[in-house]
Amino acid sequence: MPDHDSIRPFRWAGDSLILLDQRRLPEEVSEICCTSAAKVAEAIAQMVVRGAPAIGIAGAYGAALAWREAGGDSGQRERLLAQLRAARPTAVNLAWALDRIAALGDVDAGRVEAEANAIAEEDLAANQRMGELGAAYIDAGSGVLTHCNTGSLATGGYGTALGVIRSAWSGGLVARVYADETRPWMQGSRLTAWELLRDGIPVTLLADSAAPLLMRDGAISWVIVGADRITANGDVANKIGTYGLAIAARHHGVRFMVVAPSSTVDMALACGDEIPVEHRDPEELLAIGGKRLAAQGADAWNPVFDVTPAELVDVLVTERGVVEKPSTATMAKLFGGQP
Ligand code: MRU
Repeated sequence: MPDHDSIRPFRWAGDSLILLDQRRLPEEVSEICCTSAAKVAEAIAQMVVRGAPAIGIAGAYGAALAWREAGGDSGQRERLLAQLRAARPTAVNLAWALDRIAALGDVDAGRVEAEANAIAEEDLAANQRMGELGAAYIDAGSGVLTHCNTGSLATGGYGTALGVIRSAWSGGLVARVYADETRPWMQGSRLTAWELLRDGIPVTLLADSAAPLLMRDGAISWVIVGADRITANGDVANKIGTYGLAIAARHHGVRFMVVAPSSTVDMALACGDEIPVEHRDPEELLAIGGKRLAAQGADAWNPVFDVTPAELVDVLVTERGVVEKPSTATMAKLFGGQP
């Protein structure tokens, strides 16, 4: 295991999927046990497990459970797979993993389980590779800023953007890691800070809205983020707030790196306008930790992802290689048609 990588968000127990309950971190380290595909779909929708690659992996294990539950009933199996697919709409990794399982055809549950294991292992290897590729862009003494959680918790291990930060940290290149709190689910303060500190990497949190000032003060040279879906022209869907960070970074001459495995690339969509953006319950904004803060009667608009146009991305790191200044032409060189 490379340095600074001690956490896994899931465990396959042979007949069930055990998930670290990310809603309760860092206060409580607890797990939930999913013994059915429906329970996995519910866990994905309710954010027990989250992060694009991690929900793809959980979906694949959910499919293994669907195979067991349905036996030879292909209609029942299809219904369970459709339920898993619908659990969250923006991260394409979920549909990608389920398509990969469906492509196996009429196999037994053991074969589906082996494919889910392979998806998880390949994701970890992709992250380690992206860590090396991305860290090569970081100059010694850099301050870096990340958004949301893209670490071991969000993936098969090591992380995407956080994997690059881990590799750059291990190489002695990072002077300081800054992490946005990431309203409203606080993935930055709850999850990124927890996993970095557990792995011995110091982190400084800031309110999401403080990031432009941090850039103006010259404290960072890179913003490094993950992605939930990247379209054929290089547009990037990621956690709400990413678009604003990219605009501020360009204004201040700070470079902007996106790190994502090829399972996040959706060459079937021409541009970001075609990405389904998930909107969640307004209550997630109106209350914090179950305590209502907003004035009674206030409504809330709660898109949980946004789309950063390709022209604001300096470097896209994938395990297949790096795309500098992503565009339809540079993306096609690496991904051709469908990844
Ligand atoms: O709503 P979440 O927590 O699932 O959103 C996660 C993100 O937006 C991550 O940045 C993205 O999935 C990349 S994770 C390697």
